[in-house]
Amino acid sequence: MKKQYLLFIALIFGVCFCSCTYDEFVPEELPPVDTTKVYSFAADIQPIFTDNCTGCHSGSIAFSLKEGDSYGNIVPDLVNLNNPEESDIYSFPQAGTEHSSTNNYEPAQAQTVLQWIKQGAKNN
Ligand code: HEC
Repeated sequence: MKKQYLLFIALIFGVCFCSCTYDEFVPEELPPVDTTKVYSFAADIQPIFTDNCTGCHSGSIAFSLKEGDSYGNIVPDLVNLNNPEESDIYSFPQAGTEHSSTNNYEPAQAQTVLQWIKQGAKNN
């Protein structure tokens, strides 16, 4: 009986370890959050897109993240207010996804986007 019990434990561990090899989205370690900050779409989010994304995301190769187009293209389609970590606009441009690996957010940028979503993804 005891042997079977141990075997069962070993099996559970085995399953856990194997499941870790799945190629799932693993969020990067994000920098600490300033909980007092109110994140602004215009001041905090759009500059990230303008500096890093609009080379491709200008409407022809990929949906536009240019100033004026971006908000309407992101909200509500790419944002999940109930589960902000599952928002495509946060999770997709990160390491471990199909998105081009050289065009992902820096951890601080990912944190900024995530906090903005958590605060309601407002057009502020
Ligand atoms: C080298 C070109 C390139 C760059 C730079 C780039 N992307 Fe993309 N991205 C693409 C392509 C191509 C697709 C797939 C086509 C599409 O969904 O429009 C895509 C898809 C996406 C998607 C998935 C959309 C969906 O429907 O789920 C998101 C979100 C995204 N990009 C965000 C970003 C963000 C944010 C940046 C800047 C940090 C960025 N991308 C930079 C080329 C790029």
